[in-house]
Amino acid sequence: MTEYRTDDYDSYRMDYGRWHAPLEPEEDEVRVVRGALQALVEVGILPHAKYQNEPFLRFRQAVVDLFDIPWTAITPRMQRLIWAINAIRQPKVMAAAGVFCGNTFISNAGAAVGPGAVYVAEDLVGIEIKPEEAERAERNVRAIDPTGVARVVAADAVEYLRDYGRPLELLYLDADGDAERGKSIYLDILKACYDRMPPGSVVLAHNSINCAERLEPYLRFVRDPSNMRASVNVMFDPEGLEVSVR
Ligand SMILES: C[S@@+](CC[C@H](N)C(=O)[O-])C[C@H]1O[C@@H](n2cnc3c(N)ncnc32)[C@H](O)[C@@H]1O
Repeated sequence: MTEYRTDDYDSYRMDYGRWHAPLEPEEDEVRVVRGALQALVEVGILPHAKYQNEPFLRFRQAVVDLFDIPWTAITPRMQRLIWAINAIRQPKVMAAAGVFCGNTFISNAGAAVGPGAVYVAEDLVGIEIKPEEAERAERNVRAIDPTGVARVVAADAVEYLRDYGRPLELLYLDADGDAERGKSIYLDILKACYDRMPPGSVVLAHNSINCAERLEPYLRFVRDPSNMRASVNVMFDPEGLEVSVR
């Protein structure tokens, strides 16, 4: 297994209700995320590790000012990493599954829409199965992106992505499924669109650490080089992110 692990990954903890409170000096966050990006470059997941800090900070502030977020497990390190991966990879088409209030979705889409956008995308879709959460997420996203390039739909991600006709360049996974499947639904979601993911497309899976047991079949699939060319477990907070490339 390939991993990027910091010594403090388990002690770098956030109060989920006070998600906007800084956890460390900005230069420490930048250094840790740079290390993660370099690990992704080394195995060929990303072409380079360069992104602009100023647009990222504009994006971060817009989320604080405009989003209604009751809680989130996305730490400042994770928000920066996800935004940077999107800013570097620049997917024209991106889907995020299980977006709750939209924070995880905009961490991806915010590289292309709203204050701090650094490229032009075509269709960025967040999928949330609970209609009331999808509505809130859509309201949040509209406050940042009036264009509609980024949008949230109320749907089951497996069904939606099975029927979504376009090639996908980036897929973000965070759906917690039903009582029976839980996070093991990641593999069903990936398989629903795997054939439409071209070489070089990227899959991000949140909770690679704290849900590793439930995610075991998913992690076995993406860590098999016959399925995904490379995969790295980014361990810099207690939740983790598995980053894989097709
Ligand atoms: C717990 S949230 C993820 C929160 C996120 N990690 C954060 O910190 O903001 C997972 C979401 O996935 C949604 N979900 C569960 N199964 C789904 C499915 N099949 N399709 C789309 N969304 C789904 C749930 O309704 C829930 O809002």
